[in-house]
Amino acid sequence: MGWNSWNWFAEKVTDKDIRQAADLLVSSGMRDAGYVYLNIDDTWEGSRDANGVLHTNAKFPDMKALADYVHGKGLKLGIYSSPGPQTCARFEGSLGHEDQDAELFASWGIDYLKYDLCSFHNKVMRQAYSGDSAEAMVHQYKMMRDAYERMHQALLRSGRPIVYSLCQYGFDSVWQWGPEVGANLWRTTGDITPTFDRISLIGREQAGLARYAGPGHWNDPDMLEIGNGKLTLDENRTHMGMWAMLAAPLLAGNNLSQLTPEITSILTNREIIAIDQDRLGKEADRIFAEGPIEIWARPLADGSKALAIFNFGEQRAYLRGISLHLEQAGAAKGWNARDIWMAKELGPISDSTPFTVPRHGSVILCLSH
Ligand code: GLA
Repeated sequence: MGWNSWNWFAEKVTDKDIRQAADLLVSSGMRDAGYVYLNIDDTWEGSRDANGVLHTNAKFPDMKALADYVHGKGLKLGIYSSPGPQTCARFEGSLGHEDQDAELFASWGIDYLKYDLCSFHNKVMRQAYSGDSAEAMVHQYKMMRDAYERMHQALLRSGRPIVYSLCQYGFDSVWQWGPEVGANLWRTTGDITPTFDRISLIGREQAGLARYAGPGHWNDPDMLEIGNGKLTLDENRTHMGMWAMLAAPLLAGNNLSQLTPEITSILTNREIIAIDQDRLGKEADRIFAEGPIEIWARPLADGSKALAIFNFGEQRAYLRGISLHLEQAGAAKGWNARDIWMAKELGPISDSTPFTVPRHGSVILCLSH
């Protein structure tokens, strides 16, 4: 859990913004709710000197001092680079300088690296669409994996524990081999945007990936847009609820200086966070889908189950005659339900308990007996 600069600041982020974000993570209560990684995304990079040592650009005059500041707030600092020659925003990447960069990051006190395919990705895409042979694709994919493995080894050699986040959009079914290259998380999709269409599409596309996630190695459906764009209360809750069901990394991406009580209460909802962070680490499976209604469920460490009903449709949905599929969720008739968004005990539940789910909304239940 943490906060990343990209979704709000994009290429404009500066040292000052990161210091302010650190202050705000503390004063808003987000740090204490678990948001401890403060991640600088792309555009901090300067150029390499004659010895190949990478420098920051003018927006980040002293990365070590910044890391000290962030650590002093009880937070951890994340940074960004690319396995290719250039990052997505066309700054200097780490290709051929993996050891140098890993050592540099460790010397600054970096705790997290997002490693974004970009300039590699362009090459892979070019080959995919230029009618190149399957062999050429296989070759590209192997080079991509090797590049991720090289940085993994470099991070290990740096001697500092650094969370390793692969950003490569799910190419070559990364969930199948991410753990082999030391990844702690890997993006499963293209970029998120602050629109309900994009958020719900990404969420729904995660169906089938549950078995690849577990403690230490997670599917990453991209950073949160809660508080960005024009998302409604129900849309923000659905976004948070879906990511929690998916055991997804919760990396907020909003403007922390404009936190409203509503956004703060969604991002710091202790019960939703507890589902996301449950130590069993089992991501939810989709157990029912019909039209705009989907039901997802995940088992929790204490034997209870989280069950989410999502309404992706344009109308409020009255669930009558749609079974809750309690058995598929690992629960049974008579278990007690707690409605998390309502913070309310509902008492014993059955497959036919009726629910009303707002347009673009969600009902998240915790079931126990
Ligand atoms: C890609 C990533 C984003 C962000 C930008 C930075 O688009 O998917 O999350 O890191 O690059 O350039």
